[in-house]
Amino acid sequence: MSLKLVNISKIFKDPDHANKEVVAVKDVNLEIFEGEMVSFLGPSGCGKTTTLRMVSGFENPTTGEIWLGNTMINDMPPNKRDTAMVFQSYAIFPHLSVGQNIAFGLELKGIKADVVKKEVEEIMSIMNLTNLYNRSPDQLSGGQQQRVALARSIVNKPSVLLFDEPLSNLDAKLRDLMRFEIRRIQQSFGITSIYVTHDQAEAMIVSDRIVVMNEGHIMQVGTPFEIYSHPANRFVADFIGRVNFLESIVEEIAEDGSYKVRIGENIKLINSSTGDFSVGDKVLTVIRPESLTVSVGERSKAAIFHGKVEKTVYLGPTVEYDIMVDGRENISAVTHNPVVAGFFNPGDMVNIDFNPAAAHLLGK
Ligand SMILES: Nc1ncnc2c1ncn2[C@@H]1O[C@H](COP(=O)(O)OP(=O)(O)OP(=O)(O)O)[C@@H](O)[C@H]1O
Ligand SMILES: [Mg+2]
Repeated sequence: MSLKLVNISKIFKDPDHANKEVVAVKDVNLEIFEGEMVSFLGPSGCGKTTTLRMVSGFENPTTGEIWLGNTMINDMPPNKRDTAMVFQSYAIFPHLSVGQNIAFGLELKGIKADVVKKEVEEIMSIMNLTNLYNRSPDQLSGGQQQRVALARSIVNKPSVLLFDEPLSNLDAKLRDLMRFEIRRIQQSFGITSIYVTHDQAEAMIVSDRIVVMNEGHIMQVGTPFEIYSHPANRFVADFIGRVNFLESIVEEIAEDGSYKVRIGENIKLINSSTGDFSVGDKVLTVIRPESLTVSVGERSKAAIFHGKVEKTVYLGPTVEYDIMVDGRENISAVTHNPVVAGFFNPGDMVNIDFNPAAAHLLGK
């Protein structure tokens, strides 16, 4: 089912100061389509969990409406909402076996034993939990426990699945694996889902669309590609991966609406931008480190910058550089495949350039 948040705000009383307020969520408008998985990404305290709790009914919005399909659910108690939460602490019952844990919700609904058995077996096979029916939770690995928790939520076929940093207790390797697992299962059941995380890689892997939040506000909603390559503002650009903001000036507006901007000593024609700019406007050219090309040598007229390598970090598949340009601006660059391409050392003088197709303009 689709889920719609209309002008949702949540204002708490500050527990430490009687007449102060904490604005946890402010004017959030969002529609999540049937079968879609959307993640909420943002720094600690930006309102991710609070928004989830309002959807699940554990918190009431101060203003606004929450719609599940064609029903406004603001006044519906949590147990009637047909949403299920998956937390970072798996919350599986330690005294029940794996099978009993997964069957629990169905039995509670009074479903007949043979139907429960069939449904539980089916979901266990989908989740790669077959043969673990009689295990007790303390005999499972972290990843298996997480899958049991997920199976327990999904077996009830909720209309909406809500994940609150479900993988943060797992080690890096297992986390990588479980991301794909969660995505696979969500897609195979087509369950409308919200996935809260402050890990950008995780958000990119599991989501159809990402909602970037900051201080209770939505900063941008878009596909992982849109968010990374066309950030709507400085916060989003900065929060998702490493980025360079190059001071630029609009010199001319081309017929097709793209901008000729002066960056350093050169001009680039850039056709991706947020907002409408005029000739003479100071703007920022956003360019990712991996979109820069770096070549060693004397100052080249064709390049955008000439600078000195300050720092070289060799990471195997990639090499990261800090390059000081004109003794003032620090540029981050990344190159690939150093075994073949080689790499530069601190002190090397290099030319930096980029393909304008990879750049994006922001207002200052
Ligand atoms: N019951 C409450 N009373 C007062 N303030 C609260 C309450 N619950 C949350 N807050 C505040 O609301 C803001 C948003 O909190 P929330 O838990 O939604 O953040 P979050 O994005 O989930 O952060 P994290 O990534 O750390 O989990 C924070 O400033 C938090 O301190
Ligand atoms: Mg939280």
